[in-house]
Amino acid sequence: MESLLIKGGVPLHGEVTISGAKNAVLPIMAATLLTSEPCVIRRAPDLSDVTFMGQILTSLGAQVSIAGGTIRVQAAKIKEVGDYELVRKMRGSICILGPLLGRLRRACVSLPGGCIIGPRPIDLHLKGLAQIGAKITIEAGYVRARAPRLTGGEVFLGGRVGPTVLGTANVMMGAVLAEGVTIIESAACEPEVVDLADFLTAMGARISGAGSPTITITGVKELHGAEHEVLPDRIEAATYAIAAAATKGEVTLLGCRPDHLHAVLDKLHDAGVKTERRGTALTVRRGGRLKPVDVTTLPYAGFPTDVQAQMTVLMALTPGISVITERIFESRFMHVSELARLGADIAIEGPSAIVRGGKPLSGAPVMASDLRASAALVIAGLVAKGTTQVKRIYHLDRGYERIDEKLRKLGARVERVEEP
Ligand code: EPZ
Repeated sequence: MESLLIKGGVPLHGEVTISGAKNAVLPIMAATLLTSEPCVIRRAPDLSDVTFMGQILTSLGAQVSIAGGTIRVQAAKIKEVGDYELVRKMRGSICILGPLLGRLRRACVSLPGGCIIGPRPIDLHLKGLAQIGAKITIEAGYVRARAPRLTGGEVFLGGRVGPTVLGTANVMMGAVLAEGVTIIESAACEPEVVDLADFLTAMGARISGAGSPTITITGVKELHGAEHEVLPDRIEAATYAIAAAATKGEVTLLGCRPDHLHAVLDKLHDAGVKTERRGTALTVRRGGRLKPVDVTTLPYAGFPTDVQAQMTVLMALTPGISVITERIFESRFMHVSELARLGADIAIEGPSAIVRGGKPLSGAPVMASDLRASAALVIAGLVAKGTTQVKRIYHLDRGYERIDEKLRKLGARVERVEEP
């Protein structure tokens, strides 16, 4: 397994190009199952999750090629079964359920396992697909869905903590080939849902309201192939913005969408971070002494749960008390115990992390756990005195394209090594 060895204390300076969004490209890859014609997806990030989704599509019978940021898929003839060994390893693969149902009127997909940030139920996915005509059973760890007729219908996707992103994607992809009109209420509003809707529309789907809590889909007979450029990854952008502020540097993010970052930029501004926007370029620098801020994660357009761990690190560096409350996932504080090994002073009180910021960090070996917790440990290592070894960085490679190369280009002393 590989580690990152980070020698802290270097302010990041320079430009970093933001890659295509992981959480957009995965459902868009699944959507190619909805047509027998070839599809081309550009600006695809070079991530292990993308490679993995390609393997899943191939296992379903599609022809897939991934090279130089372009994915070509042709699902001419496909089968209905999503393999347990493949699906259980990546939560995002559950989004093959909707397109298989839409294309074949039947699907058999392994229930995704839970993961380290908490149980990952799919009750809302199944409820939504049933509301457009699917007959759903759970047998031997598989979801079996049958739909003699996908009729469209009224769907409500609000759960106990708000909408579901991939649940909205699944129902949208099941509804585009249904015989009637589907109205999804309490739909997820994330930009990645809008990007998927744009791709489906390019394929000939009829969708309105994507990005709002109410999405209307009028079913069509069939969809054709399409080309699409994936939107920039707002979570990657937020991660590098926070790294710039944490290291007292100045970094310009190129090819990003600052309009997808309002909640993050609002909190960074409150903390004293300065930013300057020029189109799709965003320059971030620490404007002097940081101030503690409280953060609560919410569905979009609120503060994203995928940036919670990174923000916790910034507050650990900020003298004063900050309260970081996680409202989306049950246990998304794995980074806290590892940050404590570097000297951070954070106490967990139920859904909140009470950060007593301003303690100096010193390097130590730490263990990556989930994707975003791992990014938080990297940011902490960039600041900590001495050397930090972030172990098991396969977690990072799932969602951050060539993170060590991008950081070295910004002046960081980071190297990827085989774990002894
Ligand atoms: C997507 O996961 C993202 N992943 C996650 O990013 C992100 O954290 C999450 O949305 C929330 O924004 C991808 O897009 C591949 P949800 P998703 O369904 O769709 C509960 C990352 O680091 N829920 O919106 O799986 C669920 O337990 C990853 O890039 C139900 O109760 O998340 C959670 O508490 C991590 N029933 C909340 O809703 C359901 O049927 C939000 O989950 C579905 C979800």
